[in-house]
Order: sequence, then C-alpha cells, then structure tokens
Amino acid sequence: MRTYTIDVIAGDGIGKEVAPAAVTCIDEIAAQHEFRVAWRDRDWGSDRYLADGAMMPADGIDQLRDGDGIFLGAVGHPDIDDTVTLWGLLIPIRRAFQQYLNIRPVRLLPGIQPRVTRNAEIDVVIVRENVEGEYSEVGGRAYEGTPEAMAFQQSLFTKRGITRVAEYAAQLASTRRGHLVSATKSNGLLHSMPFWDETVAETVARFPGVELESVLIDALTARMVLAPNSVDVIVASNLFGDILSDLAAAVAGSIGIAPSANVNPDRAMPSMFEPVHGTAPDIVGKGLANPVGQLWAGAMMLEHLGEAQGAAALRGAFERALADGVSTPDLGGSVSTSEFIDEVLKHIRSTAKAPGSGVTSTGTLLRGVAAQLSR
Ligand code: NAI
Ligand code: MG
Repeated sequence: MRTYTIDVIAGDGIGKEVAPAAVTCIDEIAAQHEFRVAWRDRDWGSDRYLADGAMMPADGIDQLRDGDGIFLGAVGHPDIDDTVTLWGLLIPIRRAFQQYLNIRPVRLLPGIQPRVTRNAEIDVVIVRENVEGEYSEVGGRAYEGTPEAMAFQQSLFTKRGITRVAEYAAQLASTRRGHLVSATKSNGLLHSMPFWDETVAETVARFPGVELESVLIDALTARMVLAPNSVDVIVASNLFGDILSDLAAAVAGSIGIAPSANVNPDRAMPSMFEPVHGTAPDIVGKGLANPVGQLWAGAMMLEHLGEAQGAAALRGAFERALADGVSTPDLGGSVSTSEFIDEVLKHIRSTAKAPGSGVTSTGTLLRGVAAQLSR
C-alpha cells in the first residue's frame, strides 16, 4: 500500500484543535483511496519551550528531513515573544528545507457570502516569496535603554530568489487567466522594490501568454476589497504576501478558511502545509475554531503527494458541508469545530458509498497548482 510519512506539528492554541481534526479526516480519505499516512506526532511548540527552553529539539530539522511532508497547525503563545515561537520553529523549517514558494489560494467557497463586496467572485492564488525579503535576520539594536535607542532591520532580496518565485507565478498564471499581478512599493522603497519590479518583469517577459500588472501594495489592498475578481494570481514578497493573504481570506469570509503550502519545488526536502491563520488565543478551548484552512491545507498536501483524487474528495467534503449551511461562527454559522468535522466525515463516507459523486466538482479549485506541484 502507498504509505506516506508525515510529521504533524499541531503546535499551540487552536493548532491543537484543528490539526488533529484534519488528521482524522485525512485518515478517512486514505482508507478510501487505498493509501496510508504514517503520522509522526511532534509535541513541539510553546509548551515544550516553557518546559525545556526550546520550541523543538536541537536536531529537530534533521528529524523531519526523511519525511514526505510536514503538517503544521500554528505556533504562538500569549506569554512568549512571537520572535521566539516563529523563529524557533516555523521559519527555520521554511528556510532549512528551502520552501521558497508559499502558495496561498483563496476562493469564495459554496454557501458563503463575501464580506464587503456582495456577489463578487473570488478565486485568487497568492504566490508569496517565503525565505528572504523583509523577513531577514540581518539587523540589530543599539543604545538600548537610552533616548537614542535604535533598531534596524535589513530586507534582503536576491535575483535568484525573486526570479524563481516569479517564474512559478507566471507559469501558474498561464494555466489560469493569463494575468499576473505583482505587488510592489517601488515608489517608497528606493532600492529593494525597483529591483523586485525589474526582476519580475524580466522573468515574466519569458511567458508571452502572461500579462503582467505591477500594482502598488497600498492600492492593491483596496482593490482586493473592492474588486477582488479583478485579481487572479498575485506574486508578492514575504511581507506583502503575508498581509495580502489574511486580507484575501477575510474578504472571502474568514481568515479561518485559508490554506498555505510551503513548497520545496525540487522535492529534495519535505514541504510543509498549514493554515494561514495563527493560534487565535481569543477563541482557544471554546470549540469555535474553523478547521477549513487546516483541511484545505491537508488537501494541498495530498495533491503534493500525488493523491489528487483523495485531495479532491477532501475538498469536496468540506465544500458540501459549507454548501449545506453548516459552518463555524466566524462564517456566521453555529456549529463547533467537532460538529463541523463530523459533517465532513459524513460527506467523505457518503461519497465513498457512491463513487464519483460530486468529487470532480472541485477539481478546478487549484487549477494548475497540482500540475505545478507534481512537476
Ligand atoms: P490569528 O490568526 O491567530 O487570529 C486573528 C483573528 O482571527 C482572531 O480573532 C482569531 O480568533 C481569528 N481566527 C484565526 N483563525 C481562526 C479560525 N480557524 N477560526 C475562527 N477564527 C479564527 O492571528 P493573531 O491573533 O495575530 O496571532 C495569534 C498568535 O498566532 C500570535 O502569537 C502569532 O504570532 C501567531 N501566528 C502564527 C502563525 C503560524 O503559526 N503560521 C501565523 C499567524 C500568527
Ligand atoms: Mg500571516
């Protein structure tokens, strides 16, 4: 039987609620599609940090190296500095495994009204640069504790880093509407963003079927709210992509629905799949967490593993639940996390009894991405 070894890092907060819930659904899918997932549970995160002083073991990265993928919930704790939690676990994994593509689809799911703009169609893929840019370790502080206290933070953009993410985005755009928006801020950031613009333009010029539109990030945020259907594929730097993906998800209903694939495209090292949202300390332990972002991330993981049918079945199951009006409170519904999962499991099982029913309806969800991911 096809078996995949996946490391699960549920992490903190609602990560510990949505990750195990999604694992249950993936196991059900696996049973029906004749594969098996060998989960390696990692109790890494803030509890470990509070007990041992480290988010993960010193050889944590090496422990993940031989796996087929990483399934992450979220990390972050109200009592611990976010730089410790994110830079102690999440960001080192992205970097050590050269997961330089961060693919974040946002789509208006069935049964959900978009926020702000009524009846808009929303089907956007944000391709975020994931290992350099504004999130860099280069910087420091000086004169601390004095009135002259200062901090500086260096952005770091490389030609290679921009080219590879722009290439992927252009390729993806060519399989969709042939339109690529590049998020920029070259009117304010004197050096980095003009370099970004030039490199993106050079790269996209190699894709004659793709029209490139460079949009200033401030204007782009307004456009995402007012005319989300004017945008299809976006290529963005680490910071801009991060901000845009919460915004796009909220416009499409809730930050709780959005998935994120941190991909190492040459597959030499494992990729990581997680929801876009964080640990949501305000709703922890209340059964209010929407598991859709984690489930959709699970579907992206299955696609990456080559289990396209299982991925489609998983997406189909949560989409059918939503289409029936079953949703968590962030989407205006009234069910709990576990009630939503029960509904998803019910749909997975009923689809298995009637092979083929409904599964293909979501096949276009990630048009092009599956093909890209499995290159
Ligand atoms: P957040 O995404 O955790 O929460 C923002 C708001 O959205 C909150 O009101 C929360 O209740 C709501 N929300 C988020 N996910 C939801 C879901 N699945 N269902 C229903 N409502 C949901 O962002 P916040 O509050 O800025 O960060 C909290 C912690 O998470 C921080 O420590 C932060 O550093 C960390 N974080 C971790 C990430 C990761 O592990 N990849 C990503 C983003 C934040
Ligand atoms: Mg974020």
